[in-house]
Amino acid sequence: MASEGPRRTRVLRVAADGAGPGDAAAIAEAAGLLRAGRLVAFPTETVYGLGADATSAAAVEGIFAAKQRPYSDPLIVHLAAQDEIGRVAREVPALAHRLAERFWPGPLTLILPRAEAIPPIVAAGGPTVGVRVPAHPVARKLIAAAGVPVAAPSANRFMHTSPTTAEHVLADLDGRIDCLLDAGPCPVGVESTVLDVTVSPPRILRPGGVTLEALRSVAPEIVGPIETPVASSEGERDVGAHGKRPPARAPGQMARHYAPRTRLVVYDAAGERGLAAVRDELLAARARGERVGALLPEEEARALAAELDGLAVATLGPAGDLAAHTRRLYAALRELDALGLDVIVAHTFGREGLALALADRLRRAAGGHLRAVPE
Ligand code: TXA
Ligand code: MG
Repeated sequence: MASEGPRRTRVLRVAADGAGPGDAAAIAEAAGLLRAGRLVAFPTETVYGLGADATSAAAVEGIFAAKQRPYSDPLIVHLAAQDEIGRVAREVPALAHRLAERFWPGPLTLILPRAEAIPPIVAAGGPTVGVRVPAHPVARKLIAAAGVPVAAPSANRFMHTSPTTAEHVLADLDGRIDCLLDAGPCPVGVESTVLDVTVSPPRILRPGGVTLEALRSVAPEIVGPIETPVASSEGERDVGAHGKRPPARAPGQMARHYAPRTRLVVYDAAGERGLAAVRDELLAARARGERVGALLPEEEARALAAELDGLAVATLGPAGDLAAHTRRLYAALRELDALGLDVIVAHTFGREGLALALADRLRRAAGGHLRAVPE
């Protein structure tokens, strides 16, 4: 069983496709550790996960201890293939099969009725379980070799920024986990979309790598996530697009999450309006004597850096490339966070496609609210 306490974290380097020389042996070793109830961090296409045998309550307990995560926050169970779904879900609605057909392997987590084989600790004691088949070849090979479903939250300490590289994992968990498979940076960069198909209509609990638009192309009745209120720049609170606060019990959906230590201010406007709001905030903060940094697309970062001498910037890839923005988001936040600044300023990118997940993660990283920008 995985116990808390000092230990060596064994780091095994593998190629991004898990097919390099020696990779099969490394993956087999990590799989053996999983089978033995140990903790293994591994790459997925979204973020690095911290894995344990999902059928072993003792092994899963180790995840909560290593992350210092409360038991009230349920874990996602990862499978090597769709046809294993019956091992973890008691019942699979026809819609879930259709969505799995279309989006697995990939960044979609389906909430389904939990099977007996999955102990309550995985699911915060609830009747459901989150399930996905990750697309990353190393993740799939690892889970297949382990031969057990793998429970895995993001491989960061609770409330910290999610890891998209092996270095990020070690920064949070070195010495607290048994093994880390390092396959380089994660291609998607934000977590999976969590879709509850046990309710009618099905509802997105967390936007992520599979867009609402793509899900609706299969099931138009799917409802988008509830946004928490947006704070205006004057400090009063406006109510978000859906006009409702999230339900009291939305497991794991605490407003402050994915958070850097540095104060983060995010303006809820895209393009020119967003950039102008960021510029104004940076100028105001500098006038107060604060050390400031900006999190922006490359072109915007260049323009502001030319204007504001010595401005710290981290870039999100080319403007308009939302996939580059998600891929870069957490690493860029960590880069700025390491500089010991007083404030980091950013803006959102609308709500279309991956911009919905970006707005959600930026809001959580900013402590739960976005600042409104007057038209
Ligand atoms: O992309 C991802 O989903 C990554 C990689 C490693 O697969 N995993 C991940 O896990 O983000 P985690 O634990 O950091 O976030 C999982 C979230 C929980 O916080 C919770 O909001 C939701 O998924 N979730 C899991 N099981 C659930 C359930 N039974 N009911 C409702 N929400 C659930
Ligand atoms: Mg997480």
